[in-house]
Amino acid sequence: MATIFVLNGPNLNMLGRREPGIYGGKSLEEIGEECRTAGREAGLSVDFRQSNHEGILVDWIQEAADSADGIVINPGAYSHTSIAIHDAIRAAGKPAIEVHLSNIFTRETFRHHSHISPVAVGVICGLGPTGYILAIAAIKQVIAARG
Ligand code: DQA
Repeated sequence: MATIFVLNGPNLNMLGRREPGIYGGKSLEEIGEECRTAGREAGLSVDFRQSNHEGILVDWIQEAADSADGIVINPGAYSHTSIAIHDAIRAAGKPAIEVHLSNIFTRETFRHHSHISPVAVGVICGLGPTGYILAIAAIKQVIAARG
């Protein structure tokens, strides 16, 4: 069974309480449960994690190089700043899909650029928690196509 790491960056542990007009009312725990259910239905093992710390996200991406077949990542604000996460995804050599709950292109200009997008096989934004479910379905296809 393929294993997918679903990684979440800073402040995403605040979902449900944090700017619900932008990020919606669901907690990260609820989104995690939906991802695990989607994984089970797709025959994938989903390992869902969150950290507020850049280095921990880098550690997990390095772990994915050995222990996962693909990565779904919402890097939060680190999307816009982190060359370390960019480098880690490149080095891991596993397909990664970038997800944002909000449509970053309709927001402040500092959110319009992501350091992660150039090393992602695809990017989903603006669809709320559905973006995670779509990313899990997509990463399954990417893994199958790569054999
Ligand atoms: C986010 C968008 C980022 O710009 C922001 O810093 C976040 C969440 C999203 O899911 O929409 O923390 O990644």
